[in-house]
Amino acid sequence: MANMRGIHVVSVQDRTNWRRLNGFAGGQSGGTGRDSKALLQRAARAVMAFFLVIAPLVGTCSPARAQATQTTQEVVNKGSNGLALTPPMGWNSWNKFACNISEQTVRDTADAMVSSGMRDAGYHYVVIDDCWHGPRDANGFITADAKKFPSGIKALADYVHSKGLKFGIYSDAGRLTCGGRPGSQGHEYQDALTYARWGVDYLKYDWCTTGDRNAQEAYALMADALRQTGRDIVFSMCEWGSAKPWLWARNVGNLWRTTGDISDDFGTKKKAHDWEHPMLQLLDWNEPLWPFAGPGHWNDPDMLEVGNGGMSTVEYRSHFSLWAMMAAPLIAGNDIAHMDEATKSILLNRDVIAVDQDPLGVQGHRVAQNGTSEVWVKPLSGGARAIILFNRGDTPAVIEATDSHIGWPAGVRAEVRNLWTHKDIGRWAGRISATVEPHGVEMFRIGG
Ligand code: GLA
Repeated sequence: MANMRGIHVVSVQDRTNWRRLNGFAGGQSGGTGRDSKALLQRAARAVMAFFLVIAPLVGTCSPARAQATQTTQEVVNKGSNGLALTPPMGWNSWNKFACNISEQTVRDTADAMVSSGMRDAGYHYVVIDDCWHGPRDANGFITADAKKFPSGIKALADYVHSKGLKFGIYSDAGRLTCGGRPGSQGHEYQDALTYARWGVDYLKYDWCTTGDRNAQEAYALMADALRQTGRDIVFSMCEWGSAKPWLWARNVGNLWRTTGDISDDFGTKKKAHDWEHPMLQLLDWNEPLWPFAGPGHWNDPDMLEVGNGGMSTVEYRSHFSLWAMMAAPLIAGNDIAHMDEATKSILLNRDVIAVDQDPLGVQGHRVAQNGTSEVWVKPLSGGARAIILFNRGDTPAVIEATDSHIGWPAGVRAEVRNLWTHKDIGRWAGRISATVEPHGVEMFRIGG
């Protein structure tokens, strides 16, 4: 009998014939001692053959085995990889260096992550974005650009690890990355294995040149490939929100981009490409998605521009505060080895970082808006709250938050801390107000 795939499967009748042909038919048991021994050996071989060759084939047709035939998406969707229980923090090469990267830049950055205090403040991942790739070798394994990375990626990962940091890399679900380097399509398991051998801890996976690929399938495939390596690798999905990953990627990726790329502008795009958008635009796209974020699966409104020069210090402070409020991944995108004091004071603000990293893992959102004045609230563990009074406008504004904004009953009292002056400023008594500078924030923690 042949099943649908043309594999020969043994029927009851066949099995009877097979037994007979293999000496199991009646009447053969009464032979000589030698015959019996030979018979026994033949029988043992036959039994082995049955279990090794025939039984599995029969099994593939049985209803019990049908359960095992799940799609990759179903397998991946059974559970998350257990990583990134708070939003990932680190550095990525793209916003500052684009394709002008080298192993020296990455080493210098890793050194500076330690000496500046970034590592100890929680920025653990050092991620090389696009353009590190060389060609694939004769067996299809990806290599590094030998000019830019003469020591190879493994040596670089070892160096980053020796600094007490984690190492991340970039690829793409299409044939080519956005920078035109080899993508992972058709090489998913091979690339995941290569990354694991190199010691990669984080993969950013882009979406250029994917044609009509299905995003759910493509990202589940790479998620599975990463898990098959047995190494803990945070999976950062970068398909720009096109296929609404917040609806299906909870167990596939640890973070997913919700938007196109960030440009280093506050509210108005100055010189960016079509696919780039000013910070405020990304904020507004990412904000309503707050119910979909949580430990292990975060909305990603793209990496930080703090320190890259396109916004004022006040605007960068707002950018950083609002990203923390949205429990966004805090991936610095500036030149860490050469950052000025203003940049440091923003990226190293531990009070604000603590809001982002709060273990409750709830994304904060806008609770009130009046023209260009806004109130944002983020619930924190232990019932505490973070509050931002945000002035998008061009003139100073008095902005107030009350009990009803933060969802507390009237009469609750708690300590209030200003997260930019780092001062405890008294007790909450139902409201707080401040004059907020243009494009600026006032940020507080109430309770805890
Ligand atoms: C896309 C991504 C960016 C960056 C570049 C690299 O635009 O969204 O974050 O990775 O590709 O080419």
